[in-house]
Amino acid sequence: MGQSELCLIAKAFAFLLLVPGILGWGKEGHYLICKIAEGYFTEDTLSMVKELLPASAEGDLAAVCSWPDEIRWKAHYRWSSALHYVDTPDFFCNYNYSRDCHDTHEHKGRCVTAAIYNYTRQLESAYKEMTSEIRYNLTEALMFLSHFIGDVHQPLHVGFVGDLGGNSITVRWYRRKTNLHHVWDNMIIESALKTFYHSNLTLMIQAIQTNISGEWYNDVSAWRNCALNHTACPNPYASESISLACKYAYKNATPGSTLEDSYFLSRLPIVEKRLAQSGIRLASTLNRIFASEVKVAEI
Ligand SMILES: *[C@@H]1O[C@H](CO)[C@@H](O)[C@H](O)[C@H]1NC(C)=O
Ligand SMILES: *[C@@H]1O[C@H](CO)[C@@H](O)[C@H](O)[C@H]1NC(C)=O
Ligand SMILES: *[C@@H]1O[C@H](CO)[C@@H](O)[C@H](O)[C@H]1NC(C)=O
Ligand SMILES: *[C@@H]1O[C@H](CO)[C@@H](O)[C@H](O)[C@H]1NC(C)=O
Ligand SMILES: *[C@@H]1O[C@H](CO)[C@@H](O)[C@H](O)[C@H]1NC(C)=O
Ligand SMILES: *[C@@H]1O[C@H](CO)[C@@H](O)[C@H](O)[C@H]1NC(C)=O
Ligand SMILES: [Zn+2]
Repeated sequence: MGQSELCLIAKAFAFLLLVPGILGWGKEGHYLICKIAEGYFTEDTLSMVKELLPASAEGDLAAVCSWPDEIRWKAHYRWSSALHYVDTPDFFCNYNYSRDCHDTHEHKGRCVTAAIYNYTRQLESAYKEMTSEIRYNLTEALMFLSHFIGDVHQPLHVGFVGDLGGNSITVRWYRRKTNLHHVWDNMIIESALKTFYHSNLTLMIQAIQTNISGEWYNDVSAWRNCALNHTACPNPYASESISLACKYAYKNATPGSTLEDSYFLSRLPIVEKRLAQSGIRLASTLNRIFASEVKVAEI
């Protein structure tokens, strides 16, 4: 391979890193979230998920939770790429649906929180109004919903518009050059796997499950809760994310800085708790969608 080809590849790669929210949580993050969620599915959810999954999943939701990242740059799905995140005004450190939920062309309702409502509605209407014709691909609805509930919990998926959710903040992760968004999508989880879990994702999942049934037990019912008996409630998750982004992600991570042990060790507990919350909330959202008894309030 010639010098110029290498250079082109490097440029292409650099460009990819600059695209807002290119990956969401990385593959490990999304797998972990969906694995955690699976442990809390009701019987109804288990059987509906099995029915909706594509054959390639071999019955395991976690196997397809990164699907929206794999297809988002294909021509046929490019419309979906704005649905992975929602950016907020620089340094406001708060989120407001009507102000913030739009894409870069100011099209309203093109953002992650709207997408969560969208796919919840598609699944719910197909499930609860058996008579109505099915207008959407519910296999895709399930995969998008499972992925986006993960994404909205990644603090920098609700970051500042000016730095593309940290994508344009170049930093070093130990010796490696990367950007702040990628640190939160991938590097913290990858370093944790290597440092604490013998590079074994199952061990990390188990450690988080142990905290869900121990350390965090008293908080879990509040995590599940959805105000006003709504089926999905992504807005508070987005508010939490931007607040954590300001308090932890952006803090001491200015352009050009090197992030090492002190950043890693203080942020890892935040990441692990967000992964746990995503899993619990994905399960409870699906459980509400596929609850067999029709709620009086919704008739
Ligand atoms: C959210 O933004 C809209 C539109 O900019 C504004 O009218 C509304 O007052 C804001 N809501 C809150 C709670 O700040
Ligand atoms: C809602 O889902 C449909 C089908 O995937 C898609 O075409 C549309 O862009 C989605 N809108 C949002 C805001 O998620
Ligand atoms: C629904 O979407 C899945 C995943 O993209 C695809 O494999 C399947 O063929 C689609 N089903 C229909 C009926 O279009
Ligand atoms: C990872 O840990 C799990 C749980 O202890 C174990 O069953 C599995 O064999 C381990 N995987 C590898 C590749 O070591
Ligand atoms: C479990 O909770 C403890 C106490 O809050 C925390 O220090 C630890 O990092 C957590 N571990 C995981 C895997 O979340
Ligand atoms: C939520 O639903 C429960 C049980 O269906 C009901 O008792 C409660 O009043 C509802 N709350 C609101 C705010 O609608
Ligand atoms: Zn994503």
